[in-house]
Amino acid sequence: MRVLIAGGTGFVGRALITSLQAAGHEVALLSRSAKSETSADLHWKWDPKEGQINERCMEGVDAVVNLCGENLASGRWTSKRKLLFRSSRLDSIRLLAGAAKSVQPGSLVWLNASATGFYGDRGSEWCDESSRAGKGFLAELCSEWEAEVAALAPQLKHWTVLRIGMVLDNGGGALAKLVPLFRWGLGSRLGDGAQWISWIHRQDLVAIITDWLQRPQNGPINAVSPEPVTNDEFTKILAKSLHRRPFLPAPAWAIRLGLGEMSQVVLTSQRVRPARLEERSFVFQFPHLTEACEEIVDRLV
Ligand SMILES: NC(=O)c1ccc[n+]([C@@H]2O[C@H](COP(=O)([O-])OP(=O)(O)OC[C@H]3O[C@@H](n4cnc5c(N)ncnc54)[C@H](OP(=O)(O)O)[C@@H]3O)[C@@H](O)[C@H]2O)c1
Repeated sequence: MRVLIAGGTGFVGRALITSLQAAGHEVALLSRSAKSETSADLHWKWDPKEGQINERCMEGVDAVVNLCGENLASGRWTSKRKLLFRSSRLDSIRLLAGAAKSVQPGSLVWLNASATGFYGDRGSEWCDESSRAGKGFLAELCSEWEAEVAALAPQLKHWTVLRIGMVLDNGGGALAKLVPLFRWGLGSRLGDGAQWISWIHRQDLVAIITDWLQRPQNGPINAVSPEPVTNDEFTKILAKSLHRRPFLPAPAWAIRLGLGEMSQVVLTSQRVRPARLEERSFVFQFPHLTEACEEIVDRLV
């Protein structure tokens, strides 16, 4: 199978390319840069902001995986940056969809990133794929992102949006920021620590994507481990795996003051169940946070 990955130079994409190639697939990459450090078989440069794409990138493509999006932790959420979060996600889908018109209708499968932020702030309520969308900037962003993909359904063979939880591994994502803090003994519970974190080991996320490409089905899929934890539990488990003690809790008001609206990312609560993955009998390599953290910490240099 030839898989075209947009946004494949990032934290998830880099691991996905290696895994797809190991499974015998051919990988073509779409990037805003002319070159990348990845092992992709083909490299295409595009510019979603300027609407520039080489339509030849769709030649021979069986599947599109779109992971594009300005990183939500790239800085304070100013109005300008919020526009960029939105445009980087929606423009990339629209540009890809336009290029995909050159492919025979009904022959392409499409997997797009979304996030568990779709559910908004839900306290300790369990959410599965049938739960309603939440409120707030992130939830609305995810809803728009997903609607854009769902609208392509008539021209696709199959489509999905992965509602991805906090991705854990070395080399990027949340742990790139948290591990140094915890190592200095400054890792702490955030707010009252009661907010739920739905997380996934990057290896499981990559396996979910690879499995979906083999057995595609329509509609959203929660890409989270079956064992979400509270922020308090998360802090204790990560600290223990790094042989540290949690520092004094950081009060919610101070986090809001420091991060502004971006504090949503760490203070809202999403307790998400991977119901569709369970129906698909997907086997998680890392269902429990303790083992996931230990495995990741073991590979730290
Ligand atoms: N990591 C997580 O914990 C997590 C959780 C939930 C959802 N997600 C979503 O999953 C997707 C992949 O996550 P990731 O951690 O791999 O993200 P990432 O490391 O930030 O990489 C995203 C990729 O998107 C492209 N990109 C970045 N800014 C862009 C912009 N302004 N316009 C167009 N393209 C842009 C970049 O590719 P080029 O520079 O090569 O163009 C980049 O490699 C993202 O959409 C993210 O929002 C991630």
